[in-house]
Order: sequence, then C-alpha cells, then structure tokens
Amino acid sequence: MPDKPDTVAAVTDWDPDTYERDAKAALESASTSEEVESVSVSFLGRRSPLKQSLREVRDRETGMRLNAMREAIESAVADKLARVQAEELDEKLTTENVDVTLPAEMLGTIRPRRRGSLHPSTQVRRDVEDIFLGLGYEVVDDREVETTRYNFDALGFPDWHPARSPRASLYLTDDTLLRTETSPAQIHKMERQRPPIYMLSIGRVYRRDTIDATHFPIFHQFEGLAIDKGITMADLKGTLLYVMRQLYGPEREVRFRTHYFPFTEPSMEPDVSCPICGGSGCATCKHSGFLEMGGSGMVDPYLYEFVGWDPDEYTGFAFGMGIERTAQLRHGIPGIRPFWENDLRFLRQF
Ligand code: DAH
Repeated sequence: MPDKPDTVAAVTDWDPDTYERDAKAALESASTSEEVESVSVSFLGRRSPLKQSLREVRDRETGMRLNAMREAIESAVADKLARVQAEELDEKLTTENVDVTLPAEMLGTIRPRRRGSLHPSTQVRRDVEDIFLGLGYEVVDDREVETTRYNFDALGFPDWHPARSPRASLYLTDDTLLRTETSPAQIHKMERQRPPIYMLSIGRVYRRDTIDATHFPIFHQFEGLAIDKGITMADLKGTLLYVMRQLYGPEREVRFRTHYFPFTEPSMEPDVSCPICGGSGCATCKHSGFLEMGGSGMVDPYLYEFVGWDPDEYTGFAFGMGIERTAQLRHGIPGIRPFWENDLRFLRQF
C-alpha cells in the first residue's frame, strides 16, 4: 500500500487562488479510500486553512466564494471516493475469493471438526447390499411392525412354537409385534410378485432377549431369497460360498450341518471356515476350524401354498445371517453390546 500522503496533511499555506486546484490535484494522486479521506481531512477538516478562513470571514462576498470552494472540493472528494471504493471492491472480489471446498481447519478461523465414520453395522450392511446388488438381487427393508400372520403363520411356525411367546418376542397388541426376523418381507414380496424372485431382505429385528455378550434385543439381519424354476441346493451352496468369500476373503470354504427351520425343508446351518485362523483351529472357532453363520434351506412348499402358488411349480432357497455378527468376525469384536452403546471410543476405530 502506498504511503499516506502526509504532505497533504500539512496544508498550511492559505492561498485561496490555488487552494481548490491543490485539493483536486491531491485527490487525483490519492489511490485508496484512506488516502482520499486524508485529503478530505486536510482540505476540508476542522483545522484546514479553508475552515479556519471561513470562521474568520467578515464580508458576504468572501463567504460566498469560500463556501462555493468548499462545496466544489466536497463533491470532488465524494466523486473520487466512490470511484476508489468501487475499484477496491472489484479488487476484493477477484483476489479474496474463498474456496468453499477447503476443509474448515484450513480456513484457520474455524475450530477443526473431527470427521465422522459410518457405524460398523452400517458398513457391513452397505457391503452386503453391494454384494447382492451385484448378483442382481433386489434389496428390501420392509416394515418392522408385523402381524403374527406374516411373522409366524406364513412362515410355518406352529401354534406352540416358543418364538410366539410374549416372553420371546416384543408384542404391541395380541397379533402385532416387532418383527423377530427379516423373513416376513419375503412373504410380502411373494404376495406381490410371481417368480423369478431374487431378493435381499435386510434391516432391524427385535427379540425379547436379556442383554449379554452375544444377545441384544435389537439387531440386524440380512436374508437372501431366490425362487425360480429348477433352483437346487447347489445354487444355495454356490451363492453362499460366493457371498461368504466376498465378505470374509477368497480362501473361505462353506459346509452345511442339518438343522430345522419352520420355513425351509430341508434346512441347513451353514458354517464358514474360520476367517481368523484360516481353518486350522483357534479360540474364535473353538478349534473346530469352522464358524456358524446363521440359517439356510430350500423354501418349504408350504410358503408357496400360503401365497396361492402351485407348490410343484417353483423351487427356491433362503438363508439368513446377522449383520453385527458379521462385523464382529470381520473386526474381531468380542461381543454385540458395543454396537449399541454409542461409545465413540469404540465407533471411531472403524
Ligand atoms: N430366520 C432365521 C433366524 O432368525 C434365520 C434363517 C434361517 C433365515 C433359515 C432363512 C433361512 O432365510 O432359510 O434365526
């Protein structure tokens, strides 16, 4: 910035014939609003020669002349100031542009904010969705409040099944409850659409479990369903193998143990070779080399009859697993509780 014109500030000699010209010349060489202000103070201020002379004026003619001079200088100052300020604004707009895409801490004036991260359950959920979308499955997160008809009847749960007990499930009324598994979404889908059906049902489920290291009354499941003509258990096993390898690494193997579920026949529990030890045996897999992964099976023909289809026309498979359990295995998290405690010391690690 150029020096302030302190030569101007020192206007002392009073020559009414050159005063106005001097003032205009000083304005001419002023290039900032500050300089214009200081010219104005020098030539029009309280202690300027002009103001002092005005105070001492005795005759009307001199008074009028000096007043005219004052007005002329004032308007010259105003003109110049307007021009200089417009230039300064232009300059500011072109040089002081703020990059709004910069992180806040780089602007210097804002306290840095810690960047958040997705909850480990959400991360797994998104990975699972991506895997199934890649297989051409439709992803569905259906209603969480269900009727006993969809949560139990349609899925082949007999009247006496312990899951129907209000001690096991969270009822809202006699026949509405918080869904205990993601399977009811499959029935809704089957009621809306004929096969081929390839869907992933995913979301929260609720059980009246006492909280301990492995139980929490809210958790997430994901559940694949494929119904088409000619689907076999080989398709189930191949799909599971693919999904498990996507989730836990290309070395994984899958094996089946026979089991029972009301909505599949036959039913199997899939095991996956332990991602921690690779199958040689460790504490996580209790030295068996395999980990239980959930449930699976061929869709029970009862379900086809329930939605009014010919049970001989289609076959299909289904399998379901826990999202928290998946995250636990991927990250070596020992229990389910930290997923729901909102402790940032836990959540920041992912
Ligand atoms: N719904 C079962 C559960 O919550 C898991 C399951 C088992 C899902 C077998 C399935 C299946 O789709 O075919 O324990």
